[in-house]
Amino acid sequence: MQISLVKMPGIVVVGAQWGDEGKGKVVDAIAPQVSVVVRYQGGANAGHTVYSGCEAYALHQIPSGVMHAGKKLVLGDGMALNIDKLIAEIYGLKEKGLFKGCLYISDRAHVALMHYFSLEAGREAILHVGTTQQAIGPTYEFAANRAGIRIGDLSDELNLRDKIRRNIDLSRPLLPVGFILNPDEMAEDLLEKFEKIRPYVADTSFLLSRWLAAGEDILFEGSQGTLLSINQGTYPHCTSSHTVSGGVTVGAGVPPQAIKRVIGVIKAYPTRVGEGEFPTELKFPAARKGEEAITDADIAAIKKGGEAAIGKYIRVFGDEYGATTGRPRRPGWTDIVAERFAVRVNGMTEAVPTRLDILDGIDPVKACVAYDFDGRHIDEIKEPFPSSESVLARCRPVYVEFPGWPKDSSFGVTDYGKLHGNARRFLEFREENLGIPFRMISTGPKSYQTIFR
Ligand code: IMP
Repeated sequence: MQISLVKMPGIVVVGAQWGDEGKGKVVDAIAPQVSVVVRYQGGANAGHTVYSGCEAYALHQIPSGVMHAGKKLVLGDGMALNIDKLIAEIYGLKEKGLFKGCLYISDRAHVALMHYFSLEAGREAILHVGTTQQAIGPTYEFAANRAGIRIGDLSDELNLRDKIRRNIDLSRPLLPVGFILNPDEMAEDLLEKFEKIRPYVADTSFLLSRWLAAGEDILFEGSQGTLLSINQGTYPHCTSSHTVSGGVTVGAGVPPQAIKRVIGVIKAYPTRVGEGEFPTELKFPAARKGEEAITDADIAAIKKGGEAAIGKYIRVFGDEYGATTGRPRRPGWTDIVAERFAVRVNGMTEAVPTRLDILDGIDPVKACVAYDFDGRHIDEIKEPFPSSESVLARCRPVYVEFPGWPKDSSFGVTDYGKLHGNARRFLEFREENLGIPFRMISTGPKSYQTIFR
């Protein structure tokens, strides 16, 4: 069958920062307009929060469209899947009556094996990336060294046993002395688990080509963010997959022409989890959820523009703690240099700003428009966003200040004209500087808390 290049209605949603931009909400809001939602990279390291009525659900591997009736949901070739967590997620959602779509799991996706978790712990002790400890790195390492186990291997018992033996031969020297690896037990375990997902396994690249040719609207849901991408991100403090829009082609097995729109999600303030450089970071001590609270002294400090107190306020009020790990996220001021870079490498056609409401009441609000690097002006217009973290570490942000807007004035607003003028000016400055339209603006976690312009 010939694929018609005329009908290529793919929309990609990517994170424009270091992840946790609110992609799940954006995907959830767009999902009713499409018939297919595809994950193309990452695995259980992702955590997308979506709502069913008033209840929040953190999805890890299942695409965010799962709660919309009749959607086709695809876990693509480029994923690093945790089968135990996948089974728990599928059956957990089914029990609650929230699994309303049709799931397809690529037979080419790789499996995170149990001993990879130990491999990752060993690597973390040396590399200090601050990973989510979901064995994402080792799963992609084994995919690249050709000794990985793919979902499709689990349906072929004889070859599976051979493949597991080879995988173990390669893994053993890397594991702690005495680590027990029993190939037969491992095979039995994987074969048993496979039976729980067998009905969903398919050649998803082939199915996607059919659906694309039939003109079905397809949404590709990115995980993590541009600055965590393995090639373009802040290496080595990044994830191991291609989180950028180009990752769609290799991760879903579709041609580049399949992509028509690239929507970047940009939070009103970026956050980072784990280690790595972050030029606009609002620095203050790390604390886990429930271990910190906003005090009167913090409020007084925020009024005087105290950056540590503003950072703490954003984290506590914005509930900026990892959906997967519960780790505290590090907040910072808007970074237009990094966002311009994300617009360029993803070919973004539009962006969706999120969480404007969390900045309600902060005055002034700052946006970084360039970095000063030893007297050089890096703005991602004449000089590109640095490829090296050691350069990034020496970049000093150049800020523009904006008068703030009143507390609670943006939350839940659905009409652009009803946003406070200062909030609109902040948004319009970002829009002009990124050179792409903001057609949708998120003002709260629920899908209806959205402005469409
Ligand atoms: P990994 O993806 O678990 O290997 O972690 C690599 C880096 O990416 C670490 O800094 C993680 O904190 C970060 N990371 C991975 N997934 C996410 C995510 O969904 N949101 C934010 N950061 C993430």
